[in-house]
Amino acid sequence: MSVLRCVVTQVILAAMSDHSTTEFVIEPAGPLSGTVVIGGAKNSVLKLMAATTMATGTHTIYNVPDIFDVGVMCRLLESMGAQTSRRPGVVEIVIGDIDPVAPFELVEQMRASTAVLGPLLGRFGRVEVGIPGGDDFGHRPIDMHLTGLETLGATFETSPRGVIGRADKLTGGVVQLGFPSVGATENIMMAAVMAHGTTYIENAAREPEIADLASMLNKMGAGITGSGTSTIRIEGVDELEAVSHRVIPDRIQAATFLAAVGVSQGEILLEGARYDHMEMVCQKVGEMGLRTSPDRDGIWAMSNSRLRAVDLSTLPYPGVATDYKPFLVALLAVADGTSIVTENLFAGRFRYVDELVHLGAQIRTDGNHAVVRGVEQLSGAHVVSHDIRAGAALIVAALGAQGQTIVRDTGHVARGYPDLAGDLRSLGANVIERPVEPV
Ligand code: UD1
Repeated sequence: MSVLRCVVTQVILAAMSDHSTTEFVIEPAGPLSGTVVIGGAKNSVLKLMAATTMATGTHTIYNVPDIFDVGVMCRLLESMGAQTSRRPGVVEIVIGDIDPVAPFELVEQMRASTAVLGPLLGRFGRVEVGIPGGDDFGHRPIDMHLTGLETLGATFETSPRGVIGRADKLTGGVVQLGFPSVGATENIMMAAVMAHGTTYIENAAREPEIADLASMLNKMGAGITGSGTSTIRIEGVDELEAVSHRVIPDRIQAATFLAAVGVSQGEILLEGARYDHMEMVCQKVGEMGLRTSPDRDGIWAMSNSRLRAVDLSTLPYPGVATDYKPFLVALLAVADGTSIVTENLFAGRFRYVDELVHLGAQIRTDGNHAVVRGVEQLSGAHVVSHDIRAGAALIVAALGAQGQTIVRDTGHVARGYPDLAGDLRSLGANVIERPVEPV
């Protein structure tokens, strides 16, 4: 890696780190048509990057989305002593001497930073990680991560700035998760890879991103079986090696475009998307009247009439993911009939509803339920995005609104989408993103 490239990366990332404010301006347009390429999964690549800390050498990750959070993870790894360089679609990470301390200033920017807890503890027997930040979804504890790691022999103390973990040598054990937490499954799986003996994670999360992580770890030399099922078995090994790996496609980004075609109507191809990762959400939108089918190159989707209301509940994979919900609510807001939507994972994930209501949606929330009474059409207004998916959902909802909508965003959408406005424009939508002065 050239020194120049490293310096350039640092400058770009420093410039990006101010979460600059932009606004998306959306005007009505006709039905969508064409192909959009679905990039690598944000929720996978960040964990793959964390996993590289377990082996010295040069790791190359392909199909990397050009999103803000990848930059944060690069800076986090660099702060620990790694070297990183990026070119379009690729991140190269050189792991040499690592200081297993993840500083609060970086960890607080992104909750996924907690993914370094397991790998660093597993490899070095000590770790210090700042308290998690990231999306504003209410209280997001990491108790299951810590309890699972304690089962393998770790001890933790907390300080106002974070968590300090220690373990002379982790030892395999049976970790029974009270809930199939994605982050806890990943952290415990990564820690167990270099533990002494065999670990079982029972009631493990089954998300495709976990199977992707296990696949890369196995290439590195780990002994993981059962990823993607409720029981993961990890046979500890002493050493791992650096590898190359290609990130799976982003199913949440793909669902964003499914919703876009549902709102605008038309016919699109989600190139690279994996139908087998999205069966439940495709089934759900199918019940609404949006047709999808697996295609040799991805997923084909078509909508040519107003969608129908359906009830839905978010669940761990393979259920309908909580990350899809803002898009599905945007669809239901203009569907024919009344729907009941139940959130089973995160308490605060109805915040964007107030913004949809500004656009004319008729939605009432009560605890973890929302009652959505579909209206014929939304009306353009000025709204604000509060997190990645909420911001994207407002942009999608606005595609079908009468008049102009402006979605003000303080960098949330850029955390998960390389160029959402450009991708929507390539399908025929009328969306631009422009910088604005912060208020
Ligand atoms: C990941 C995804 C996020 C997705 C979520 C659920 C990343 C970067 N983020 O988040 O986009 O919405 O999975 O599919 O991959 N919980 C506890 N204690 C814990 C851990 C979790 O109570 O120790 C609770 C959480 O507060 C939440 C639920 O369990 O209510 C699910 O959380 P989890 O599956 O861990 O989500 P994340 O890994 O944080």
